[in-house]
Amino acid sequence: MHQFHKLIITAIEKQPNAVIWTLAIPPELKNEFIFLPGQHMTFRVMSQGEELRRSYSICSSSCKTDEVKVLIKAVKNGRFSEPAQTNFHVGDQVDVLSPSGHFSLQPENGRCYAAFAAGSGITPVMAMIYATLEQTEDAQFLLFYGNSNSTDILLHDEIAALKDRYQDRFSIHYFLSQQKVDMPFNHGRIDHGKVVFIKEHILDQIEVSDYFVCGPGEMIDSVCRSLDILGVPTRKIHNERFLSEGQEISLADKTIKEDVGITVTIDGANHHFGIKAGEQVTLLESAEMAGVSLPYSCKAGVCATCRCRLIEGDVEMINNYSLEDWELETGYILGCQSVVRSSKIHISFDE
Ligand code: FES
Repeated sequence: MHQFHKLIITAIEKQPNAVIWTLAIPPELKNEFIFLPGQHMTFRVMSQGEELRRSYSICSSSCKTDEVKVLIKAVKNGRFSEPAQTNFHVGDQVDVLSPSGHFSLQPENGRCYAAFAAGSGITPVMAMIYATLEQTEDAQFLLFYGNSNSTDILLHDEIAALKDRYQDRFSIHYFLSQQKVDMPFNHGRIDHGKVVFIKEHILDQIEVSDYFVCGPGEMIDSVCRSLDILGVPTRKIHNERFLSEGQEISLADKTIKEDVGITVTIDGANHHFGIKAGEQVTLLESAEMAGVSLPYSCKAGVCATCRCRLIEGDVEMINNYSLEDWELETGYILGCQSVVRSSKIHISFDE
């Protein structure tokens, strides 16, 4: 489950400053690549002798089991995302981990879901929209999607096709921050004022089961705070940041205070190793030093690829931009952000 698999790129599609890769799932890997709408996949490439890992959200329908699509937005000087725009071709093989991530939706009949997305934050939301419309008979989806200009809108044709097909169950409101539009409501960023207006004028009579928020950190913080102020229960608000905005953990924070014995359970096997007092490592780094391969991608507390369960012992989690309260309460931690604070530790990636 935590191994990299080789998948073949079968199509590459241009999007504004981005590409969509279609990856074929061979029959023997179908079970490994069943995904929940909203999840992402971690890619691994070698660049100038260094291993790079990056996570990209799946933007296709989970009804299709023989292929997945990911959208890769070009980031300036991005060591993975820039080459991904031009250096990869149909027929190339790429190393990919099975889908993961807890920012997901399993839609149910009779429900209504709403999403606030900005820029490439639309990517995981797109898979949620497909699932809601294709896998239920009557669930509804409301999308509020912000971009700078109309030419920047990602997945525009896919959204339009769904709007045509599911007119009664899917509504979309675009917001453009740097382009004049007829309606003042559709001009500007998705911020507190917009959320208040939307809640009072559009969502007022609708019982929304869950809110999904994806985009730059500032937008996520603003929307989540606004929903909170407007009385939406925290358990109904889910967010995912798509950039690694986490800070480096300082060496002082990573300093281990006493000798530690560590057990890691992964893919049914137990691995034992130790770290000495005075070493300056996270749990993930200590496993890497011991030669135990664990899943990770951003190493910044954002993607949750390194999520595992603390079975025994104590850790201090320095940053957390991805785990929700219920996950923390049930013992989940991020390996890349956890520093051991007890003499014995047992973590599991199998729960
Ligand atoms: S590797 Fe991304 S949160 Fe730990």
